[in-house]
Amino acid sequence: MIRTNSDKLYSKAKDLFPGGVNSPVRAFRSVKGDPIFIEKGNGAIIHDVDGNEYIDFCCSWGPLILGHNHRGVRDSIVEALDNGTSFGAPTAQENQLGNLIISNNRFIEKIRFTSSGTEAVMSALRLARGYSGKNKILKFEGCYHGHMDALLVNAGSGLVTLGTSSSAGIPEAYTNETLVAPLNNKEAIEQAIADHGDDLACIIIEPIPANNGLLIQDVEYLQFIRKITKENDILLIFDEVISGFRVGFEGAAGLYDIQPDIITYGKIIGGGLPVGAYGASKEIMGTVAPDGPVYQAGTLSGNPVAMSAGYATLKECLKPGFYKNLEEKTKFFIEQVTDGIPAESGFHMQQAGSIFWLTFSSNRVMKADEIDGGKMEFFIELYSYILENGVYMGPSGYEVGFVSEAHSVENLTQSAKILNTGLKQVLDLH
Ligand SMILES: Cc1ncc(COP(=O)(O)O)c(C=O)c1O
Repeated sequence: MIRTNSDKLYSKAKDLFPGGVNSPVRAFRSVKGDPIFIEKGNGAIIHDVDGNEYIDFCCSWGPLILGHNHRGVRDSIVEALDNGTSFGAPTAQENQLGNLIISNNRFIEKIRFTSSGTEAVMSALRLARGYSGKNKILKFEGCYHGHMDALLVNAGSGLVTLGTSSSAGIPEAYTNETLVAPLNNKEAIEQAIADHGDDLACIIIEPIPANNGLLIQDVEYLQFIRKITKENDILLIFDEVISGFRVGFEGAAGLYDIQPDIITYGKIIGGGLPVGAYGASKEIMGTVAPDGPVYQAGTLSGNPVAMSAGYATLKECLKPGFYKNLEEKTKFFIEQVTDGIPAESGFHMQQAGSIFWLTFSSNRVMKADEIDGGKMEFFIELYSYILENGVYMGPSGYEVGFVSEAHSVENLTQSAKILNTGLKQVLDLH
């Protein structure tokens, strides 16, 4: 494929932005390539600035569950735009989206909109600390919760450790309040609670960890976390920025029927525009300003144009059979991709609803340290092949892919064929 225009734009962008991008993974460094610049998208297809077409499984990293440029979402945005873009005062659109969510979600009674997932998580942690009066938080190795200081931490050596920051610019004092435990390990949680329970405000987890591969946990493990946090007066936060409205309207909480204390949302909730949110019981949300002492605010929070995009998107998600159909399409896609590729060959795919992960391993992977970094060479080779043949995914082997409502059986069959051929080459199965 010719990518002259993308290359020119990238060259200019490198003068303007760090690494030429406004979010690091977009720079294509994980796949040892250069980014392609996108001009437009429709349905499951995106077009780059050189006129090349790709079937897209990145879907803007998850928000576009209806595909690109969905007519209903677009109309709703345009209708809102007719009245202006932002007022910094309440609008009916906030009520509309808030009501749609709360009346169809058994797990939260009140919600607060923010402008990103990071902001939602940051606010949820403050709420957990403000409500409980405790300081420490526990997160899991392999879960990502946005770029806030306290959560950009790696585990040290040991079962449960105080985090060491994974980014420059984070004072040790911040990460000293963050404990890090491995996923799929009950003992680590018991130990953390034994050592720090009195000052542990909350445990935060992606109930379906989907930012470092797709590390699907057993329901029984999540139930264990719920039980032990309740018994020890520790709040449980489900970070559902990816899983919320993706694996079902009620997200993973609904799928597993587990009631966390606080839930965070992002991505799909804004229908492709910048929205995040956190929700909880009326009692816990009563701690948030102006009702309570936990301060949190935002100039563009509840922006009417973004609310309209979210509302139009979520209304579609509520249609009967929506999630079942997406899950079945994803299963079909995976079956086609892996056709003739037995797990013994060192590859399989993991699936949670319409989320999938290309896994260069024969076994189910449930923890960050079970991912073999050396196998990413296979992904790099595969990525170059699929991109050249018109399939776009997040440019890293640690990223998951998403199937949208707009992916037709033809789109899925065509892209699965490309992936299947590429995989057989990479795995030397011919
Ligand atoms: C689980 C989870 N939490 C938080 C975030 C941060 O959201 P945002 O990128 O909107 O700030 C992400 C983003 O990928 C996420 O996947």
